[in-house]
Amino acid sequence: MYPITRHRRLRATPELRRLVREVSLSVDDLVQPLFVRCGNEIKREVESMPGVFVMSPDIALQECMELEKLGIGGVILFGLPASKDSAASAAYDDAEAVQLTIRAVKQRTKLIVATDVCLCEYMDHGHCGVINNGEVDNDETLPLLARTALSHAKAGADIVAPSDMMDGRVKAIRAALDEGGYQNTLILSYAVKYSSAFYGPFRDAADSTPAFGDRKSYQMDAANRREALKEALSDVEEGADIIMVKPALAYLDIIREVRDKINLPLAAYNVSGEYSMVKAAAHLGWMDYNSAVLEILTSIKRAGSDIIITYFAKDAAKLL
Ligand code: PBG
Repeated sequence: MYPITRHRRLRATPELRRLVREVSLSVDDLVQPLFVRCGNEIKREVESMPGVFVMSPDIALQECMELEKLGIGGVILFGLPASKDSAASAAYDDAEAVQLTIRAVKQRTKLIVATDVCLCEYMDHGHCGVINNGEVDNDETLPLLARTALSHAKAGADIVAPSDMMDGRVKAIRAALDEGGYQNTLILSYAVKYSSAFYGPFRDAADSTPAFGDRKSYQMDAANRREALKEALSDVEEGADIIMVKPALAYLDIIREVRDKINLPLAAYNVSGEYSMVKAAAHLGWMDYNSAVLEILTSIKRAGSDIIITYFAKDAAKLL
């Protein structure tokens, strides 16, 4: 008790603070999302995400070489297809941007390459599954997801990451991968994915805003915590290797809850809106960008996440 106890003693100098710090960020744990589209020498900035670019596979390869030099943990690829339809055909087209980028990057680097497995960027209606009678049909969507994951595995992806929130997709994907001879391809499941306003800038980048309705019949309700555990546990049973909570900042309690109850590695997705709001405020001179980035990433780590998928990855790697 005061005055014998003085908390400030431990905070007196930078050296002491470093010595007693409880968690520290490492570049090893950061994953950089990349948007790719077919073509050559394309590098177009996403308007709502300054500093984030849509790249053709050749430019994405250069970017990956830089990220590897910075020691970053890996990348996760999102594809913008040349055309969209009602069967998401481009998602499992071996000559599309994601597949081409995986091949190029795995040939030239040792970087871990993960891929987002979802159909919304590839569907003409922007929903994450097949539409039947105006609704997203869970069971008809599963084979398309499995086919997409298999196409990524064939191209050489280390990790496939389903983000669609259909029930049973991890099981379907695991079965397809095993049957195709890809027993060692990892599944990072977006197990706990909330319906969120913070995906706004991403949908702008990926042109994947649903043409009608919203994603609330498949993505989770922000108010639910117990449901997060149900979702995570069923993905563990279905064979997921890594579990993800998404978004991160408004869901730090959920990250902690899942960390405490599940023994798999845990990832958190620090999503597009969480990036853009910091960028915007920093641009207006309302907060310091570098310290905000490190504080945010530290909070996600402290909440219990092992892996952080973040658009700040490259900037953070330079700061660490
Ligand atoms: C695809 C997908 C989305 C994100 C990752 N995968 C968009 C969505 O569900 O609408 C969001 C990522 C971000 O906001 O950074 N389903």
